[in-house]
Amino acid sequence: MNKSINRRDWFKSTLALTAGFAITPALVNSLMAGPVSQAEREFYKSARLNGGKVRLNSNENPYGPSEKAKKAVLDILTEGNRYAFAEMTELRNLIAEKEGVDPSFVMLGAGSGELLVQTGIAYGLEGGRVLSAYPTFTLLMNYAQQMNATWDKVDLNEKMEFDYQKLLSAIKSDTRLVFSCNPNNPTGTVVNAEVVKSFCEEASKKTLVYADEAYLEFLEPAHQKSMVSLVQRTPNLIVSKTFSKVYGLAGLRIGYIIGHPDVLKRVGKYGDTISPSQTAIAAAKVSLGDEEFMKMTRDKNAIARKVLTDYLDKKKFNHGKSVTNVVLFPAPKDGKTILTQLDEKGYLIRIWEYQGKEWCRVSIGTEEEMKGFIKAFDSVIS
Ligand SMILES: Cc1ncc(COP(=O)(O)O)c(C=O)c1O
Repeated sequence: MNKSINRRDWFKSTLALTAGFAITPALVNSLMAGPVSQAEREFYKSARLNGGKVRLNSNENPYGPSEKAKKAVLDILTEGNRYAFAEMTELRNLIAEKEGVDPSFVMLGAGSGELLVQTGIAYGLEGGRVLSAYPTFTLLMNYAQQMNATWDKVDLNEKMEFDYQKLLSAIKSDTRLVFSCNPNNPTGTVVNAEVVKSFCEEASKKTLVYADEAYLEFLEPAHQKSMVSLVQRTPNLIVSKTFSKVYGLAGLRIGYIIGHPDVLKRVGKYGDTISPSQTAIAAAKVSLGDEEFMKMTRDKNAIARKVLTDYLDKKKFNHGKSVTNVVLFPAPKDGKTILTQLDEKGYLIRIWEYQGKEWCRVSIGTEEEMKGFIKAFDSVIS
């Protein structure tokens, strides 16, 4: 029997047995790393994903964790036998203070991915529709679909940005949730905060808006305009953030959402109340608001990104203007060949499908890695 049907049946039978359930890490991984193209489905059948490869396939931060975070992790190890109840409360309070909300508006997860999954389940269970632009980070919509929802998609605009006007017009009477991702993954493009704000205000009158801000800290501090400021007066809005990107804690797994307590209660039914580990919490506590580390990441990332975008410009390969650690451009050769031959040269990237074409999604590594990558890529496509 088809694997995805098994998984859906498992979900449903589990849900039938219990009001809330823990999401297994294996299940999350299977969807998070899920192939987004036929080229990837074929490539992953035989690919070996570790063993010294340059990983330009997961939008990770090559400079993290910070020294402070590493020390905090080592220091907390002796508490590894204790549940992190008190530490979770401390981190929630710190986040609430930073974001300017009451702690009851903050929910922590083992990565924001876990919270995207829970939201997808909570809002997909009753059927109806979830809506997003595409391509974007698909996790929430994948889970909503695994439940009962239909996923409606609108195209990006010609600058490869989320088209908020189109998105607003596509909300239907049974749209349960609309997903915004600003800056967006896989394009790295950002839309002006005023546009996103008026979208959130309008759309939340009709449905729940999920504003994913995983990459917001890649912008200079003056431009980091979060939608969190809307949450207190807009109950139909969730804003999510992660420590995985600019803070460099992807493998430690910690993120959070901000939303009205009633919305968080609905989402919280589908996860454990204490999923982040002592080590992740400790690292997050010292990383939160670490401007020095974030600036270092931003600056080095911008230099390394320019190595790639200069190359793409020279080749006249069209790409959206990325402000983050990922760039999307049309694949100049068939995707499976690109993946396989780059892999042989020691580089991993992603291939996406959009508008009937294949696209290369390349995460930004160090400057040296990007110099090596463009050489390898050039020889693969020549
Ligand atoms: C837009 C976006 N949101 C959320 C996530 C999930 O990140 P994490 O679960 O590590 O917080 C990612 C990961 O790449 C992402 O690109």
